Amino acid sequence: MSNKEVADKPWSGRFTESTDAFVEQFTASVEFDQRMYAQDIAGSQAHARMLTKIGVLSTAECELITAALEEIRQEIEQGEFNWRVDLEDVHMNIESRLVEKIGEPGKKLHTGRSRNDQVATDVRLYLRDQIELIDAELVRLQHAVLNLAEGEVETLMPGFTHLQVAQVITVGHHLMAWFEMLCRDRARLADCKKRVNIMPLGSAALAGTSFPLDREYVAQQLGFDGVSNNSLDAVSDRDFAIEFCAFAALLLMHLSRFSEELVLWASQQFEFIELPDRFCTGSSIMPQKKNPDVPELVRGKSARVFGNLMSMLTLMKSQVLAYNKDNQEDKEPLFDTVDAVAACVRVYADMVPHIAFNRNKLAAAVDTGYATATDLADYLVAKGVAFRDAHEIVGKAVRIAIDEDKELPQLSLAQFQALSAHIGEDVFTVLQARGSAESKNVVGGTSPVQVRAQIEAARRSLA
Ligand code: ARG
Repeated sequence: MSNKEVADKPWSGRFTESTDAFVEQFTASVEFDQRMYAQDIAGSQAHARMLTKIGVLSTAECELITAALEEIRQEIEQGEFNWRVDLEDVHMNIESRLVEKIGEPGKKLHTGRSRNDQVATDVRLYLRDQIELIDAELVRLQHAVLNLAEGEVETLMPGFTHLQVAQVITVGHHLMAWFEMLCRDRARLADCKKRVNIMPLGSAALAGTSFPLDREYVAQQLGFDGVSNNSLDAVSDRDFAIEFCAFAALLLMHLSRFSEELVLWASQQFEFIELPDRFCTGSSIMPQKKNPDVPELVRGKSARVFGNLMSMLTLMKSQVLAYNKDNQEDKEPLFDTVDAVAACVRVYADMVPHIAFNRNKLAAAVDTGYATATDLADYLVAKGVAFRDAHEIVGKAVRIAIDEDKELPQLSLAQFQALSAHIGEDVFTVLQARGSAESKNVVGGTSPVQVRAQIEAARRSLA
C-alpha cells in the first residue's frame, strides 16, 4: 500500500497501511467528545497566543489561527461542520479543519502540545463550566425549598422513624432538612471545583516539552487557578472527574430520598401533598390516575449516576502511568452524569415551588399514631418521675388507648391518674400536637421559632 493512501491522518507518517474500517469506528470518540468543541477552541486560542508570546508563531500567524478557530466555532454552532470519524476526535477534527482553512500556520498550532494534555485540559474546562451551571441550579432549588419551608413553618405533620409515626414536627422543619443536604452537596461541588480548575496543558504527551512554554500565561487566559505540578500525573489524572461523579452520586441519593417522600406523600394513603398536574402524567388505561412521574424518574436516574461513579473508578483502577487509551472511556459516564444531574436539579427547581401541602390532612395525621407520647413522658419527668419509669407509664397509657381504639387525649384524667398520681389536668395541654412542636425549642429543633431562625440564617448564607 502506498503511503499516499494512508497520508490522510495527522499521525500516519510511520504507517504502511490504512486503519481497519471497523477499528476506525471503534477507536473514534468524536461522536461524544464533540460536545467539548468550545473548550477545545478556547484552549487552542490561548495556546496560540502563548506560542506567539514565546516567538514560535508570528503575530500574523496567531491572528490567522485565532480568527479561523472562531469561524470553525460558528460552523459548528450552525451545524455546518463536517465531523469526520476518520479524524477520531474533536481535537483532530478541529485541527484538520484549521489546516484546511489556513494551510501552513495551522500546522504549527500543535507545537509543544499533545492530545493527551489537550484532552485533559478540555475535560476540565468543560466540567468547570458545567459545575457553574449546576451550582446555579442548585441555588435556585435551595431558594425554592426555602420559600416552601417559610410558608409551612407553622404547619404540623407527623415525623417518622422507621416510617412509623414518631413525634410531631413542622413541615418547615422537614423541608429545611432537605435544604441542609443541598448545602452539603454544594460544598462538595465547590471543593471538587478547586481540583478541576488546575491546568494540565504544557504536560504534552507525558514528559513536558522542550519548548519554553509560558504555562502561567495560558492558565490565566483560560481562568485556571494554577498549573499542574507533574506532567505524568497531569495527563493521566481523572480524579477530578471521579470526584464530580461522587458529588453527583450523593446529590442523586438525596434527590431520590426527596422523591421517595414526594411519591409517598402524594399517594392516596398519605394525601399530604398535591403535585401540580403539569409535573405528573396519566395512565393510558386507568382514567383516575395521576402519576408522580417526575420524582419517580429522578429517583430512577440515581441508578445510572451511581453506576457511572463505579465505571469511572473501575476505569482508572490499575492504569499504569501515563496516558492510556482507556482514558477515552471517561467521557461518556462523565457526560451522562452531567446531563442527569443538570436535568434532575432543573426539574426539581421548577417543581418544588408548586408543591401544595394539604394542611387539613396533615393536621388529622398528626392527631393519630400517638405522636405526643414522648411529650407525656417528658411531662412526667418534669414532675419528678425518672425517665425510664415515665416511659413505662406512657407505654401503658398507649396500650389502653390502642385497646379502646382511642388517641391519647381521649383517655380520661381518671385513666391517666390510675397509671401515675403525678398526672394532673394540665396533661391535656401536653398532649396537643401544636404545644408539642412548639416545645422543641432547641437549636436545630422543630419549633416554628427555631425553624424561622434556620430559614433566616439560610437566606443570609445564600445572599
Ligand atoms: N480522544 C482521546 C481521548 O479522549 C484524545 C487523546 C488521544 N491521545 C492519544 N494518544 N491517542 O482520550
